[in-house]
Amino acid sequence: MKNILCIGAGYVGGPTMAVIAKMCPDYEVNIVDINEDRIQRWQSDDLPIYEPGLKSIVRETLNKNLFFSTDIAGNIKKADIIFVSVNTPTKTFGIGAGKAADLQYWEKTARQILEYSDSDKIVVEKSTLPVRTAQAMERILNSGDEGIHFEVLSNPEFLAEGTAIKDLLNPDRVLIGGHGTETGRKAVAELVKIYTHWVDSERVLTANLWSSELSKLVANAFLAQRISSINSVSAICDATEADVSEVSRAIGMDSRIGKKFLQASVGFGGSCFKKDILNLVYLCDHYGLHDVANYWEQVVLMNQYQKTRFVARMIATMFNTVVDKRIAILGFAFKADTGDTRESPAIDICHQLLDEHACLTVSDPQALDNAKRDLADYQDLVTFEVDPYLATENSHALAILTEWEEYINLDYNRIYASMVKPAFIFDGRNILDHDQLFTIGFNVYPIGKPPLTHI
Ligand code: NAD
Ligand code: UGA
Repeated sequence: MKNILCIGAGYVGGPTMAVIAKMCPDYEVNIVDINEDRIQRWQSDDLPIYEPGLKSIVRETLNKNLFFSTDIAGNIKKADIIFVSVNTPTKTFGIGAGKAADLQYWEKTARQILEYSDSDKIVVEKSTLPVRTAQAMERILNSGDEGIHFEVLSNPEFLAEGTAIKDLLNPDRVLIGGHGTETGRKAVAELVKIYTHWVDSERVLTANLWSSELSKLVANAFLAQRISSINSVSAICDATEADVSEVSRAIGMDSRIGKKFLQASVGFGGSCFKKDILNLVYLCDHYGLHDVANYWEQVVLMNQYQKTRFVARMIATMFNTVVDKRIAILGFAFKADTGDTRESPAIDICHQLLDEHACLTVSDPQALDNAKRDLADYQDLVTFEVDPYLATENSHALAILTEWEEYINLDYNRIYASMVKPAFIFDGRNILDHDQLFTIGFNVYPIGKPPLTHI
């Protein structure tokens, strides 16, 4: 039985390996992490991440051909193929701070692989990395004198949180980058063999290493660019009484544009879009391509603008002050169907409202533990309440910041009755029935659509 190891049991490592274990019963899949608590939770009923469909797959495979452990050395030794899926956040210090990828976890992993290996291995970059990281990885791995051969491949992950299992089971494509040498081609074939257990072979693309690394950054940059583009259009709509949903529909039906990722919002969040674009910006600057760097940086700047614009509008609408006003925040996760709040637009929006001395009640079905950590500096001004009816009671306004389905079907008559009047709704995701809310009595402020107001 071939032995696969994944280093890093996070949002990518956990679900990806669980799916490989399920679809490839002829492989033993091990996952290691330095975080003991995470490893324990993967082995319990209380998984460390919330992802629809994940629990049943882990239950089905756990301790059959899927194993979690903190024994990094022992598992490196016995592995044939090692996926590295550690975090690669933006650097917060030194050269490149605020833009470049912080590769400290990455490099430590490479050194551990070198230290504990006593046989040839295929090492797979699963994390998102700057272009040509594989070269640095190869230099570290091949600095030993044991005569062991390490073949480095790039296999970036394209899953989105909230739909990770669906994306993994039915990916648009799997991308595998490797060297064109004999050992490179052999290693690529090994990885293709794993994925073709369940993915059609025409969806498994092979490429050179650098194209594969770059494609991951570019895919995220293009996706985020679409959101910033439509959000910039939402500002024009707000100024002109055009309706951004109508514009999205009209342009999205052009098959050259396509309809996905044209939903105007309070801004994109998540651990990767901003970090990966800034990583791309840093790379462009590094290669002297300053105009290209500025072009991509604008996607991030537009996202920041959209969040600030949302808050400015809330304040202006509520008679230019939110001091001591109770505002219910419905949704704190960066998107629906996840408890993840990394880079959630809700963080910035809440900070800005708290700086204006508003009193917030934050509600979210999955993300309240993370929200408490994210807003720890403002303990006195924030309360947390999982029940949206209690969260909105006695509030002057409510703001929808995550597109949770359950917020669409709340009893808004009941909510209106319990709120201070005039009652305001700021729908930062354009998911509610605005006409109905207006009929109930609310003053309704969507994104990029004319407001419906009684005042
Ligand atoms: P994460 O923070 O959830 O998980 C990373 C894990 O690696 C952590 O549990 C950490 O403890 C562990 N780790 C760090 N150093 C280690 C070491 N030396 N040995 C063992 N374990 C170690 O991160 P994530 O969201 O899973 O992202 C991982 C990578 O995948 C990143 O590069 C990210 O850009 C990329 N990615 C993420 C997503 C996503 O949806 N989150 C999607 C595609 C790609
Ligand atoms: C994104 C990509 O979609 C994945 O392909 C990629 O693998 C991943 O980043 C990564 O590299 O981490 P993710 O961030 O999990 O996935 O979620 P998305 O569905 O892309 O949403 C990102 C943000 O954009 C969310 O805040 C979402 O609410 C927002 N969004 C999305 C919009 O505001 N409008 C849209 O039309 C779509």
